[in-house]
Amino acid sequence: MNQNYQYVNSSSTGLGAAIEKNAARSRRSKLIVLASVIGLLGIIGIAVGVGVSVSQRNKSSSSSSSSSPGGSSNSDNTPKQTDPNDPSSFVKDSRFHKAFYGMAYTPEGSLLPDCGNSLDSVIKDIQILSQLTSRVRLYGADCNQTALVLEAIKQTKVDMQVYVGNYPVPNDDGVYTRQRDIIRDAITTYGTDHIAGITVGNEFMLNYLTSNGATDPNGSVGAQGAAMLVRYIKDTRDMLASMNLPKTIPVGNSDAGSFFSTEVLSNIDYGLSNVHAWFANTTANDAAGWVSNFFQETNVQPASLLPNNPKMYIAETGWPSKSSDVANANNGASDASEANLQIFLDTFVCQANANGTAYFYFELFDEEWKDKQYGGVEGWWGLFNKDRSLKNIKLPTCTAP
Ligand SMILES: *[C@@H]1O[C@H](CO)[C@@H](O)[C@H](O)[C@H]1NC(C)=O
Ligand SMILES: *[C@@H]1O[C@H](CO)[C@@H](O)[C@H](O)[C@H]1NC(C)=O
Ligand SMILES: *[C@@H]1O[C@H](CO)[C@@H](O)[C@H](O)[C@H]1NC(C)=O
Ligand SMILES: *[C@@H]1O[C@H](CO)[C@@H](O)[C@H](O)[C@H]1NC(C)=O
Repeated sequence: MNQNYQYVNSSSTGLGAAIEKNAARSRRSKLIVLASVIGLLGIIGIAVGVGVSVSQRNKSSSSSSSSSPGGSSNSDNTPKQTDPNDPSSFVKDSRFHKAFYGMAYTPEGSLLPDCGNSLDSVIKDIQILSQLTSRVRLYGADCNQTALVLEAIKQTKVDMQVYVGNYPVPNDDGVYTRQRDIIRDAITTYGTDHIAGITVGNEFMLNYLTSNGATDPNGSVGAQGAAMLVRYIKDTRDMLASMNLPKTIPVGNSDAGSFFSTEVLSNIDYGLSNVHAWFANTTANDAAGWVSNFFQETNVQPASLLPNNPKMYIAETGWPSKSSDVANANNGASDASEANLQIFLDTFVCQANANGTAYFYFELFDEEWKDKQYGGVEGWWGLFNKDRSLKNIKLPTCTAP
């Protein structure tokens, strides 16, 4: 397995006057790289439902009774179903609202070579996700995750658009074509109704540049990386064209906020950019404004100057609720805490909805494997704990566009 996912050394960038931004970028990149790893490498199985004896959500009025009254039993914090055999019969949770424009998501266990994901688990995730948003973005296609998500949407009958992902690595066409073919098969099976786009590339330019000792996406090294990536993007367009689909599916790309090159931007319909205020050492109170400014200046404005005018989205933004070590418990300005996660939710989500910012919130659940592997705040960005219980927060109640 190609390993291009090493930490980005924060001393390797950070030149120039905008020290904070550059430092932020390099640290953000680290997180992004970590976050991206999920997509290709997937997650070592987090044992959900292992005797977790939590909130038996009481179902007040069960109209249709089944063999197991009160719905299927759930030892974890997943929605109950009034019909255990019908995933669309899940009972909605009054604490959840479709307030999020979109959500970043990778099914647990979508990591080669040890795929551990399951339709059952993805259905539970989609039952929760669909109560929070109508858009989800995937990072990669390995371990059949595209089909699992589309099948889960079909069975739960929810309103959900998927930005599917192809996570290629530099200098290995096989990784790209493998995922391209999985995506093609999934579209053939499930149609285009729930497909909002295909994101080709996740941190591709970041990885290419850093592994070649360069930083400028528009420089000569960047041009080599961009040529590779644009070839994949065009190939995906060709594939879609050859399928004679009933609608045009946009093809985009995702990268660290400062790693979009002119060449890549000129060849995509949309770009997803990671923007994390935590790594810029902003306070929780300033985080929403910082994210908004960075995204506007670094991504939205430059993209708007190009003839193809790609639509830009925030690929990831969020706030960690804790750290596994003392050193990272505070970013120099604010703590990693549920109280500050609440502040970020309260100041970012509904405001961004209202002013037309398109974003994918990061993220749904805490990720145990990241905590084990990297420590610090890496595993603690979820709105939910790893057992799918909601953290001690109040979710925003506005309705996303
Ligand atoms: C992928 O998932 C779908 C939906 O659950 C299933 O029908 C299909 O058999 C799976 N394919 C593979 C190769 O596991
Ligand atoms: C590369 O070009 C893009 C788009 O023209 C621009 O937004 C970006 O700032 C450039 N990157 C650098 C590091 O100069
Ligand atoms: C959009 O919302 C963000 C909060 O998410 C805020 O910081 C920013 O100032 C708003 N932008 C405009 C143009 O209102
Ligand atoms: C952010 O804070 C950390 C820890 O307090 C520090 O190591 C780092 O240099 C700071 N980064 C910036 C961009 O100020």
